[in-house]
Amino acid sequence: MASQLFTPFTMRGLTLRNRIVISPMCQYSADDGAANDWHMLHLGSFAVSGAGLLMIEASGVERHGRITHACLGLYSDNDELALAKVVAACRRWGNVPIGIQLAHAGRKGSAQLPWEGGGSLRADQDPWETVAPSAIPMAENWHVPRAATTADLARIRAAFVGATVRAARLGLDVVEAHCAHGYLLHEFLSPLSNQRGDEYGGSLANRMRFPLEVVGAMRAAWPAAKPLGARITGTDWVEGGFTLDDAVAFARELKALGVDYLCVSSGGISLKAQIPIGPGYQVPLAERIRREVGIPTRAVGLIVEPRQAERIVAEGRADMVAMARAFLDNPRWVWHAAEALGADAAIPPQYARGRGAQWPGTKILRPPPAPQGVAAQ
Ligand SMILES: Cc1cc2nc3c(=O)[nH]c(=O)nc-3n(C[C@H](O)[C@H](O)[C@H](O)COP(=O)(O)O)c2cc1C
Repeated sequence: MASQLFTPFTMRGLTLRNRIVISPMCQYSADDGAANDWHMLHLGSFAVSGAGLLMIEASGVERHGRITHACLGLYSDNDELALAKVVAACRRWGNVPIGIQLAHAGRKGSAQLPWEGGGSLRADQDPWETVAPSAIPMAENWHVPRAATTADLARIRAAFVGATVRAARLGLDVVEAHCAHGYLLHEFLSPLSNQRGDEYGGSLANRMRFPLEVVGAMRAAWPAAKPLGARITGTDWVEGGFTLDDAVAFARELKALGVDYLCVSSGGISLKAQIPIGPGYQVPLAERIRREVGIPTRAVGLIVEPRQAERIVAEGRADMVAMARAFLDNPRWVWHAAEALGADAAIPPQYARGRGAQWPGTKILRPPPAPQGVAAQ
């Protein structure tokens, strides 16, 4: 049977050539928010991968909305200009549409690089004051955030819109609001981090209010022909936290705002989470949201093998799959998956000989076995 993973998927004016999405991955390598040669190498390699969509890492909508000093941002002209260079190279040579995830780190900001410890910045590391729905730290030894004022909320909402406008100017194909992994928008959703007494806290409707305001404002600022998505949390995996029932309700509201897809992740709000990690462990979350809400979903989390990814799409459990670590391990994942599933993959002509093609006529779509005894040219 023909591969379902390798069938196109259309959202508004964008058609992905297949259902494979390269998940957003923080690189902690930017220069005060601005992309540099590392991003050229990292995104450049994925831009020629033949995936359906490449998501640029969580990018802070304001300077203090980043996780670390080295996180990417999209809040200044300098950030926009730096990213424009990377995007232009990916466009010139690549074959993959590009989206960006926009984020605010909330109480998880002002952190060290993961490979330098990952905890809160020390006093001698230029820390900043973090904001969150309530003055509740992520854990002991983390910064205690300041509870956001209405002025903070207005500024942050405007910052999400500002970054969305910059993404549109960059000609990016997709924007995605980061409402998961314990960052600011998720902090509003979860009763573990949101104990406000105003209209932004308490009931689920109140806890959803700020994220929905942000996403609605982003949708209004983003071109109507382009898809806008959100990464949401399917569950906090903690007693008394945000549940899958809550996620279904949130998904309904996002759909009503004109959100085109949801990537369903989980966890990240508390160190107490009991996460049943295993192959495809978050797929059931995406599956239930897709079934009950009728919105395109993207499954993510320990999806590694081509046949595993194929089954998720073919069985109607999700419309797309996102992969992160599998692509770090093998940026040519799509070519090999196409071979395994008897499907077509886009391979740039410069690299086609690696898959057995001869010049001219390099448009090899179904890779033959590696050539034997062919003279090098
Ligand atoms: C290096 C790295 C950086 C990540 N950065 C982000 C990010 O910027 N935004 C996000 O939503 N998830 C981020 N994640 C999570 C991944 O997108 C993905 O959801 C998670 O790794 C599970 O998928 P996997 O099993 O295919 O790796 C990151 C993961 C890795 C490994």
